[in-house]
Amino acid sequence: MPVDVTAVVIANRPLSAAYNVLTLAAPAIAATCTPGQFVMIKAGLTSFDPLLRRPFSVFEVIRDSQGTAAAITILSKRIGPATALIYDARPGEHMACLGPLGRAFSIVEAPIEAWMVAGGVGLAPFATLAEALASRGVQTTLFYGARTGAELFYLDFFRSRGVELVLTTEDGSVGERGRIVAPLERALAARAPSSPVMVYACGPEAMLAATARATQKHGRPCQVSVERVMGCGLGGCYSCVVPMRGDDGLTHNVRSCLAGPVLAADQIVW
Ligand SMILES: Cc1cc2nc3c(=O)[nH]c(=O)nc-3n(C[C@H](O)[C@H](O)[C@H](O)COP(=O)(O)OP(=O)(O)OC[C@H]3O[C@@H](n4cnc5c(N)ncnc54)[C@H](O)[C@@H]3O)c2cc1C
Ligand code: FES
Repeated sequence: MPVDVTAVVIANRPLSAAYNVLTLAAPAIAATCTPGQFVMIKAGLTSFDPLLRRPFSVFEVIRDSQGTAAAITILSKRIGPATALIYDARPGEHMACLGPLGRAFSIVEAPIEAWMVAGGVGLAPFATLAEALASRGVQTTLFYGARTGAELFYLDFFRSRGVELVLTTEDGSVGERGRIVAPLERALAARAPSSPVMVYACGPEAMLAATARATQKHGRPCQVSVERVMGCGLGGCYSCVVPMRGDDGLTHNVRSCLAGPVLAADQIVW
């Protein structure tokens, strides 16, 4: 069950001029969230601008010295008023935080391998997923693309959890030059059909669509975390619908805050 809490900002770490990691004391959410779920956050509690909460993936679950889940972090990219408030937030500030919300990733077991595909801030749901996969002994690769090397974050976090990294940047400053779907496609093509792999993807919609095409072409299952504009996060406003093919062969608009944000890539009408 989601809970609505007033969470204190414990820390706010800038990663670049646009990205930051915000830590919120929200033990009730931290204790129950699973990889891929999200929270609806209202920064600027006393102001009407922005009026609505905004959705963010739970990036990390922070535990205290006894191992009890005490806080969550979010990885935020500043693009408008709410993310600007989150970028500038100071420890001690309060934010309304509703969660955990939505359908999480379905986590595979070994010997199935996990390939996570992240574009930019689409990295956010993969820190908790990587930890869940590591605890099950699943061999995991992160395909991670950004515009520049300076926008590739948390590489040591993933390495320290045994995740193999495949990196691309649009300017070629780190890893291969270009988009992340290119090395993913090569890896899919090179993979023996008898070696099972689950692909997980989060990032810009064009990247998700390209990942869906590539995985379908090579007959691999793929779960995507979609990022639609969300007004409520609770199924009430229909701002977040995604067209999906139903078992009846017809297209249905599903609310991605309830049926997702994690959806089967091959059922989405891209
Ligand atoms: C399930 C989910 C998880 C998310 N997780 C994260 C996360 O972990 N970190 C993060 O930085 N962002 C995440 N987002 C996106 C985040 O919610 C938006 O960046 C945020 O709402 C922008 O608010 P704003 O007031 O700063 O900008 P706004 O003024 O609301 O938006 C600025 C511009 O971005 C567009 N926009 C707003 N939201 C989205 C969206 N979801 N997709 C595409 N375009 C959008 C608007 O139409 C507008 O043109 C997530 C979105 C969803 C649905
Ligand atoms: S965000 Fe309101 S219905 Fe999904």
